[in-house]
Amino acid sequence: TPKIIRTLAELREVVAGWKASGESVGVVPTMGALHQGHLSLVRAAKAQCDRAIVTIFINPKQFNTPADYENYPRTEQEDARKLISLKADVVYVPDGAQMYPVGFATTVSVEVITQGLCGAHRPGHFDGVATIVAKLFSQTQADRAYFGEKDYQQLQVVTQLARDLDLPIQVVACPTIREEDGLAMSSRNLLLSDRARAWAPELNRAMEEMAEGLAAGGDLVVLKTEAIKRIERARFTEVEYLDLRSADKLELMDSPERPARLLAAAWLAGVRLIDNIAIDPL
Ligand code: PAJ
Repeated sequence: TPKIIRTLAELREVVAGWKASGESVGVVPTMGALHQGHLSLVRAAKAQCDRAIVTIFINPKQFNTPADYENYPRTEQEDARKLISLKADVVYVPDGAQMYPVGFATTVSVEVITQGLCGAHRPGHFDGVATIVAKLFSQTQADRAYFGEKDYQQLQVVTQLARDLDLPIQVVACPTIREEDGLAMSSRNLLLSDRARAWAPELNRAMEEMAEGLAAGGDLVVLKTEAIKRIERARFTEVEYLDLRSADKLELMDSPERPARLLAAAWLAGVRLIDNIAIDPL
């Protein structure tokens, strides 16, 4: 059974003990409502490090509206149960006062890579992510940190953060885990009604269809228009973006002449879903 730790003082003590015995440490930052996507990161951490820490903190600074923060699924009991079988060593569950004590005044802000995509539609979101991730890296003193490709822009932001600030941690990317119908697993899927859940996989299907069209040398603008039509037929109310971008710097591309990524965000029944897939260079 993993040890549940709520204070930084206790976390530091436990990690210091591991380090004194020369053990390597992996961290998996999460906001809870754990699913197989999260659990795959924990497995990777446990496979590559002597010790694994799962952090659960619903970070208020990265939500855009109070309602989004309040509606975020909270499933502490089930989360704890899921982690038992996974051999995580520690579950770190700090409270708000531990992470943001009165007088907290620092923001970590990664530029350039945060400008488009989710950064353009969620002002302040990546500042919130970068700030909490910098704190979690510092608090856990982990050697490796595990992030999912599901949140592809976040993965690039965190990689840049570690590089720019010379943080002694290796950011490890893990593949997106999907439901059988192709829907990317997400804590937010819990917010979908049965009807909306049935439509949701159309986002990924439209993206896969677009990827096939690109591989066949099709025109980006034409393929994108078709994909958006398909997504809107599936009752999505708004496609925020559906972009072809370079896989590393996330620069907009007209055609996949180097490794690229197709990234999308769209609203379905009041829930914002994101997805992305790799596009091989032509
Ligand atoms: P959360 O959405 O809980 O995701 C935690 C980690 O799980 C992230 O690295 C995310 O990319 C990964 N993940 C989510 N769904 C996945 C899937 N279907 N397949 C593979 N990995 C998946 O992302 C956050 O929390 C927060 O922004 C956080 C980094 C914890 C900072 O607060």
